[in-house]
Amino acid sequence: MERVTLLIIVLYSLPLQIHTEQISLDETTGDGTWTVVNENGTYTAAATVPGGIYTDLSVAGILTQDIYYRFNDIEYRWVSKENWTYSRTFEVPESLLKKQQIFLVFYGVDTIASVYLNDQHIGDCENMFVRYAFPIKSFIQAGTNELQVKIQSPITAAQERFDKQAVEYIVPPTCLPDEYHGECHVNFLRKMQASFAWDWGPAFPSVGIWKSVVLEGFDTAVLREVITQTVESEYLWLVTVNIFLETESQMLTVSGNFSASIILQTSQISVTRNETLMPHSPGFFNTTLVLNIPKSQIQVWWPNGYGDQKLYSLEVVFSDEHNSKNTKTLKVGFRSIQLVQEPVEVGTVLTFYFKVNNVPIFAKGSNWIPSHVLPEKSAEPKRIEHLLESARIANMNMLRVWGGGLYESDLFYQLADEKGLLIWQDFMFACSMYPTDDNFLQSVSTEVTQQVRRLQHHPSIAIWAGNNENEAALRDNWYGTSNEFDLYKQDYVTLYVDIIRRNTMLLETVRPFVVSSPSNGLQSEDNGYIAKNPYDTRYGDVHYYMYIMNAWNPNLFSNTRFCSEYGYQSMPSFSSFEEISIPSDWSINSDFCNNRQHHPSGYNEIKYEINLNLEMPNNLTERQQFTAFIYFSQINQAMSYKTETEFYRRSRNLLTSDGEGLTMGALYWQLNDIWQAPSWASIEYSGKWKMIHYFAKDFFAPVLVSPFVTSDGVLEVHLISDKLEDLESQLTIFVYQWNSLTPIHSITSNHTVYNASVTKAFQSDLLEFLQTAGCGDAEPIKKCFLYFTLTSLDGSDISPHNFLFSQSLKDLTDFTAPTISVADISLASGTENVFQNTTGD
Ligand SMILES: *[C@@H]1O[C@H](CO)[C@@H](O)[C@H](O)[C@H]1NC(C)=O
Ligand SMILES: *[C@@H]1O[C@H](CO)[C@@H](O)[C@H](O)[C@H]1NC(C)=O
Ligand SMILES: *[C@@H]1O[C@H](CO)[C@@H](O)[C@H](O)[C@H]1NC(C)=O
Ligand SMILES: *[C@@H]1O[C@H](CO)[C@@H](O)[C@H](O)[C@H]1NC(C)=O
Ligand SMILES: *[C@@H]1O[C@H](CO)[C@@H](O)[C@H](O)[C@H]1NC(C)=O
Ligand SMILES: *[C@@H]1O[C@H](CO)[C@@H](O)[C@H](O)[C@H]1NC(C)=O
Ligand SMILES: *[C@@H]1O[C@H](CO)[C@@H](O)[C@H](O)[C@H]1NC(C)=O
Ligand SMILES: *[C@@H]1O[C@H](CO)[C@@H](O)[C@H](O)[C@H]1NC(C)=O
Ligand SMILES: *[C@@H]1O[C@H](CO)[C@@H](O)[C@H](O)[C@H]1NC(C)=O
Repeated sequence: MERVTLLIIVLYSLPLQIHTEQISLDETTGDGTWTVVNENGTYTAAATVPGGIYTDLSVAGILTQDIYYRFNDIEYRWVSKENWTYSRTFEVPESLLKKQQIFLVFYGVDTIASVYLNDQHIGDCENMFVRYAFPIKSFIQAGTNELQVKIQSPITAAQERFDKQAVEYIVPPTCLPDEYHGECHVNFLRKMQASFAWDWGPAFPSVGIWKSVVLEGFDTAVLREVITQTVESEYLWLVTVNIFLETESQMLTVSGNFSASIILQTSQISVTRNETLMPHSPGFFNTTLVLNIPKSQIQVWWPNGYGDQKLYSLEVVFSDEHNSKNTKTLKVGFRSIQLVQEPVEVGTVLTFYFKVNNVPIFAKGSNWIPSHVLPEKSAEPKRIEHLLESARIANMNMLRVWGGGLYESDLFYQLADEKGLLIWQDFMFACSMYPTDDNFLQSVSTEVTQQVRRLQHHPSIAIWAGNNENEAALRDNWYGTSNEFDLYKQDYVTLYVDIIRRNTMLLETVRPFVVSSPSNGLQSEDNGYIAKNPYDTRYGDVHYYMYIMNAWNPNLFSNTRFCSEYGYQSMPSFSSFEEISIPSDWSINSDFCNNRQHHPSGYNEIKYEINLNLEMPNNLTERQQFTAFIYFSQINQAMSYKTETEFYRRSRNLLTSDGEGLTMGALYWQLNDIWQAPSWASIEYSGKWKMIHYFAKDFFAPVLVSPFVTSDGVLEVHLISDKLEDLESQLTIFVYQWNSLTPIHSITSNHTVYNASVTKAFQSDLLEFLQTAGCGDAEPIKKCFLYFTLTSLDGSDISPHNFLFSQSLKDLTDFTAPTISVADISLASGTENVFQNTTGD
């Protein structure tokens, strides 16, 4: 959307230079307006493009409440069972009609649609991730034109496709668990898979024209995409610029000048070529230019925490013999990236970690889901900026764009580039088997090619992954496929290896590709793409969920190479619920709370986990219980992620005799919420940080003092560092009793914090240590807790402070209710939730 707007601005300011005449058919420009109507004409509304049916019907007052209010996910389901026709009229200027070729371009239609211009069928759409360019020179007319986009109900479209396939064999899952309150067979549609519901999100099976619609008139060709590969050699960065042009299919050659230039600090490096191209397939042309950039002239791009995110403008111009120009400008960065999968000393197992600019990077971060269930709202700049900035502030350097959502907006990846957030980019396939008929594969091919070309130049993108959890689903028979394992395996290889990987690798020479997440990486490939155990901790990445365990105990986790998903649910804050519910809903036993909890047994698991370490007050009113449950669930979540993440970070240098360890990644599930409901998110739908996000800022800190108690009762203190230089430090361990703010004991020692490493700085039997500190001989672990600081030798903190409870909090005996009151604070000006001393300090 950004891109189109930009081009239009250029069009009006420099009309003589622009070869391709662009006319936006979005709501905000041109004459004529969009309307939408259902098939039998009972509902008509003004429509917005880019947009969607739920938004249109809300604006029109047909849907009268917030779509997330109470049970509206169910109440408003009828919307997605209707077929909807979007239409508008438009006039075209003479100048456009004079062009030799005219395209009508849809940047995104959701999803199954037929397009008519002046009552003539000009084409069909069936993939919301694909840009459709329909040649319309022979359909468009002087004066008024009428455009209609007839979109079928995604629910009936999915069912029809499932039924057709089922004649041969079933492609499961046949439906979602009942707790999801969802719809079936979304795997038959190339559409955001989570729009039919997920275990953290509602079903709003969307319908609409979710991206821009543009008329393009031109004589020679459209400069469609530019991709770049940036490869480091001894003295140079070689920038390979691949330029893609599109024409109507009968065009046999395209001639013109192609130029690429990079704007450096004080100079510009350019290359120009005059060339005549042959199509590589009907209507598609490409050529390549190479720029040699002396290394001395640029600064490399670094992930967050390792250095700056320097970006340079790359300008590509195509001019034809009429001397009219098409220009595209990209922001590119210089960085190398490798996924290292090499044998380790123990057995035949392999490492799994990223190197950026030859520096091994411990990947710290979380998983990204769509920021809204409605695709048209998924790219709101304010929301995206807030979420990505929150990730950056929390010391994250990697986000995984999870495969059940969307290929995100251009803005998302631009911001990731600017903030140094590496992106693990899944292709949009998740938790399902998928069909492999020719039509489906053809559509996926186009999707992959277009998306890789759109995203490829972003330095933030670190890896492509074929799907989410489908290797594991097949191996572990999640959907009853085991009787026909070979059949489904063949479909799997066809889709992810033969189509998705192949199409990606035609465009990609730098980044790694893994077929699934989780997978055993190279080992999965050696096992014919379905490993014996896709969750093998000694290869590739792992998703780890274990709800029936004490996640505050670090000795229960497994050492894995790279944990790309892990987590525990909590409740969003009361204010989030208050917005979309009524007082009678405020109990976890209410129908409302039941409807919001999609994870089977979710509340029981939260309760169970809370009770392992905390004692919930038991004499509260129902309302107090609800808010207490929210609060305790957030404490449990924050402590669990802290424990598990610090465990992974401490395992960086560790290599067990079984070949486990050498952990180099911790991406927890999940960063953001799609609505107000219990989930694994660290940031609520409102944008508010849950307790865990504040913890994340600490447990992902570049240098971290990390204490724990081994299963043998030994207190160990490790110093974790992602820094690239050694640091001299002073560790202080304070011992506090629960009834005083003054420590009863402290001990200080000097240590070198070794770079990119974990250093054990202290070790002592916990009981002896506490007894010596003065916590008493009887039950010292109940009397005291420990507090840790790590400073440079001049006394300034180099790590967040840390703490260790030597005993489950529920088992403390010496715990008296504190008398603490909050006085004299007020909202800081211009903020929603930052409080300050009334004195203004
Ligand atoms: C139009 O469709 C709606 C929803 O399917 C249905 O309830 C209604 O009866 C239909 N009306 C007519 C006039 O067919
Ligand atoms: C929507 O279109 C499909 C396919 O044309 C048709 O089978 C179905 O009855 C239509 N549904 C409604 C509610 O009009
Ligand atoms: C490319 O070169 C040919 C022959 O030298 C020339 O006729 C043509 O005009 C050039 N094209 C452009 C776009 O300059
Ligand atoms: C055109 O693009 C394809 C990848 O789609 C690439 O393999 C080929 O080398 C390119 N051709 C030129 C001339 O750049
Ligand atoms: C194309 O490039 C040639 C030099 O390679 C230059 O002489 C000519 O003017 C260029 N034409 C256009 C249209 O830019
Ligand atoms: C709950 O019980 C505690 C002590 O058991 C008491 O101090 C507190 O006032 C009680 N709260 C309510 C709301 O009854
Ligand atoms: C980083 O650690 C390595 C290995 O311990 C050491 O050789 C190197 O000197 C350290 N680098 C810096 C800048 O401290
Ligand atoms: C730590 O180092 C500082 C500065 O070199 C020194 O003054 C101090 O005595 C050392 N402390 C310990 C416990 O060795
Ligand atoms: C708040 O103000 C009081 C009085 O000016 C001061 O003593 C206290 O340290 C301040 N607290 C913070 C957190 O700044």
